[in-house]
Parts: sequence; structure tokens; C-alpha cells
Amino acid sequence: TGKRAFIAGIADDNGYGWAIAKSLAAAGAEILVGTWVPALNIFETSLRRGKFDESRKLPDGSLMEIAKVYPLDAVYDTPEDVPEEVKANKRYAGASNWTVKEVAETVKNDFGSIDILVHSLANGPEVTKPLLETSRKGYLAAISASSYSFISLLQHFLPIMNPGGATISLTYIASERIIPGYGGGMSSAKAALESDTRVLAYEAGRKGKIRVNTISAGPLGSRAAKAIGFIDRMIDYSFVNAPLQKELLADEVGNTAAFLVSPLASAITGSTIYVDNGLNTMGLAL
Ligand code: NAI
Repeated sequence: TGKRAFIAGIADDNGYGWAIAKSLAAAGAEILVGTWVPALNIFETSLRRGKFDESRKLPDGSLMEIAKVYPLDAVYDTPEDVPEEVKANKRYAGASNWTVKEVAETVKNDFGSIDILVHSLANGPEVTKPLLETSRKGYLAAISASSYSFISLLQHFLPIMNPGGATISLTYIASERIIPGYGGGMSSAKAALESDTRVLAYEAGRKGKIRVNTISAGPLGSRAAKAIGFIDRMIDYSFVNAPLQKELLADEVGNTAAFLVSPLASAITGSTIYVDNGLNTMGLAL
């Protein structure tokens, strides 16, 4: 309660970021959102027109309020990094101050500080290609959007995070076990994200008393997951084979995130926490 959260990676009401925002809002946090620039217009229009009102409902019946939506493209750290063709792209030209550094500055000007930073974004342009067929460009793009983006966000937000604050990112078990089809270097990107969670827990812990954890989530039919192509099979597989044979709800990931950023988890940092109905623990599914 009384905390302020910046959640990067919400562009609709289907993904983990939205569910985390709701759990944090239900616990009394003020919600700021970072939305990918090309998705900003439709997200804001849908919000304004009430398209998300049903899914904005919190357990007490009130509607989640988003204090402000910031355009963000987490693959660019400063304006100098933005290529001309992106600057000129009409989906970008209408927005401003959307590089990571500028967003952190704008949040500082608007609100002064934050307590909670959530990274719920990933992108791998060649995700449908096997690793063996992935180009250097595709691999580096996956790492840039899905792993370095977290380093950059923490780097730029740490100076405005109150001591005792916490960060969360979302990872996937393809980092440590073979998940055929999760290609394009996305498995590598998640491995980097998990390793970075440990190193950054040390660095941000010592530097700013900030905790850094990541949630290894089970499959959810989000927009990003549908782009991979086999999400329905993953959900069915999980339902059949996991210790808990039930649908995995985005809210269950949201609630875990709310716990992890709360004082209840004050000694947990550098951890990868599974929220997957236990699927990761299976050796052989029969
Ligand atoms: P989602 O589509 O709700 O979220 C991904 C978001 O990333 C989108 O809003 C997209 O606009 C944004 N994004 C992409 N590139 C960006 C950039 N350069 N700058 C800023 N934003 C950018 O999908 P989902 O699945 O909820 O993804 C959230 C996180 O959860 C991701 O890290 C994903 O890898 C992770 N995850 C998802 C699982 C699933 O089955 N859906 C399983 C395990 C982890």
C-alpha cells in the first residue's frame, strides 16, 4: 500500500503485465504503465472507450486506475540510439520521450520516485525459427528486447527507486530445458535474464537496497505467446502433465508478483520463482 509501480510491457488486458498491475493495484499500489510505442494508440483508445472495464475490476469491486501510460521502446536507451527510419516511422513519430532514459526522466519529473519496477516484455523476431537456423541479427534482437531491456530499465530507474523497493521480470523454462519451438534465441534470452537476475540482485541490492527476482511462468495465451504459434498445445500439455491439473491463471502470476515485491518477501532476491502449476518439477510425464 502507498507504493508506486512502473510496469513495462502492457498493451492489452490479456498478458502477465496486466495481471500483475491488477494484483498490485488491489494491494493499494499506484500504477504507471510503459506501453510499446507501436501499440500505444490502440491501448489508450481501448482504455478510454471502456473496452477493458470488465477486466479492470478489482476484488473489492472498484476499477483499477492507471495513473499514467508512458510510450516506451525498451530496445533504445537514449534518443541517439534511435535509427532514422524508426524516428520517421509514423507509428513512432506521434509519440515522444519513449527511450528508456527519457521514460525514467519523465517518471521522475511526474512522480519523483517509484518503489516497484516490473519488466513484462519480450520480443524475438525469429522466434519461430529453430536456434540452428537463427541469424545473428535475430538472436541479438531477441537478447536486446528480452534481456538487455531489463538491465537498461533497472540502470535508468534505480536512481529513482526508493530503498527497500523491488523488481520483477518474467521468464520461461525454455532457458534451462529444451522446449522445441521456442526459437530465435528466445531460450538464450531467458537464460540471460535469469543469470542477470542474480548478478543484478547483488549489484542493486548493494547499491540501492533493491531486490531483483524473476517469475518463471507457465504458458498463457497472451498476444506475445500467440505469435510463437504453439501456445494452445503448450497449455494442453501443461494441463495434462503438471502436478496441478488446472488452468494457469494470469492472476496467479500477478499475485506471486505482488507477494515478491511486498515486505512479505523481504529476504528473497536473485531468485527464479516458478508459477507453473508445478510443471517444472516433472521428470517424466505419464
Ligand atoms: P504480452 O503480449 O502481454 O506482453 C509482451 C509485451 O511486450 C507486449 O505488450 C509488447 O507490446 C511488449 N513489447 C515488445 N517489444 C517491446 C519493446 N521493444 N519495448 C517495450 N515493450 C515491448 O505477452 P506475455 O506473454 O504476457 O509476455 C510478458 C512476459 O511474460 C514476457 O517476458 C514473456 O516472455 C513472459 N512469459 C510469457 C509466457 C506465456 O506463455 N505467455 C510464459 C512465460 C513467460
